[in-house]
Amino acid sequence: KFENLAQTPPQGWNSWNTFGTDINETLVKGIADKFIELGLKDAGYQYIVLDDGWMAKERDGNGNLVADPEKFPNGMKHLADYIHSKGLKFGLYNCAGATTCAGYPGSRGHEYQDAQTYASWDIDYLKYDWCDTGKINAESAYTTMRDALYKAGRPVVFSICEWGDNEPWKWAKDVGHLWRVTGDIINCWDCEVGHGSWSSSGVWKIINMRKEIRKSAGPGHWNDFDMMEVGNGMTNAEDRSHFAMWSMLASPLIMGNDLRTASKETIKTLSNKEVINVNQDKLGIQGFRFTNENNMEIWIKPLDNNQWALTFVNMSNHPLDFVFDWKNHDIGDDVNGRYVDMIKNTFQIRDLFNHKNLGDTSTNLKARIEPHDVLMVTLNK
Ligand code: DGJ
Repeated sequence: KFENLAQTPPQGWNSWNTFGTDINETLVKGIADKFIELGLKDAGYQYIVLDDGWMAKERDGNGNLVADPEKFPNGMKHLADYIHSKGLKFGLYNCAGATTCAGYPGSRGHEYQDAQTYASWDIDYLKYDWCDTGKINAESAYTTMRDALYKAGRPVVFSICEWGDNEPWKWAKDVGHLWRVTGDIINCWDCEVGHGSWSSSGVWKIINMRKEIRKSAGPGHWNDFDMMEVGNGMTNAEDRSHFAMWSMLASPLIMGNDLRTASKETIKTLSNKEVINVNQDKLGIQGFRFTNENNMEIWIKPLDNNQWALTFVNMSNHPLDFVFDWKNHDIGDDVNGRYVDMIKNTFQIRDLFNHKNLGDTSTNLKARIEPHDVLMVTLNK
């Protein structure tokens, strides 16, 4: 694969969560404009990715993929040029099977040809799905596409999307830059919709599905907890928690809402640079659940420069008042073998959503967290 890409979790936008296959050129240009207008580019968001539904139902006479002529009348190179002119990057979707999940032409048997097509359109990112694959082996199918992209020569972030079924965290480090770890997300706190392999899971169902894989994440190879549902119907508090958790998990931050109609509060959450800095920390260590008591979860993520991020989540439907005694909780992580004696060490506390300093760890932290909201802090010397 192309090294040196995605050294921190990719940040961008994907069409699927809000638009499904109902996508077109005007929409995508509008989203690119909003990246600039709303300060999202300045907050680090870069990739605009079209998911399933961008293609015509058939390949052309030479077997080449073609963009749907009604949805994208000027073709994909035109759209890539538009997006690049804004200093952003452009991604497309395809699938390792014979057809995509929505029934468009898949890449199976056309991998090298399709990679050439993407390179000729100046594509920077490919999400590669797993429908209609029959009995093919996932590792070899994704490796074939990786090799095809590499041969085409244009650097592409390669996003593996087989829902964790084949445990990509065990083999995909040198194949892709990110891999989905679960089935699809849906816009709720912890619900589950549908059943079996076609069910979609709310934010906390997704988080709780994969507990043992954090050691597999790092610069250039991320556990992907799916595209975000911030702005898609949960409360502002739930959106903050969702965003905080994706940052703690070092998951790619791929927005999935309609940026053209997003509320101020949604954009405030998505462009919170102090939270994004935790996600983008250069060590790239995925955070972990530290404790889970009395409806409050506490998550920890070690950061560069001997700093730490902590997120306190109110899992209950009532406001939660709590006192946290720093001296009784030794902070540490076996991934990089760093432990802190909290009696000997004092840190400054920074509240990342309220943008203020909360004193230091020499005294107990007293706080109130609203239902399903978070207190997210960093500890700095
Ligand atoms: C399944 C994937 O998990 C989704 O993210 C989306 O890409 C759809 N397929 C598209 O059909």
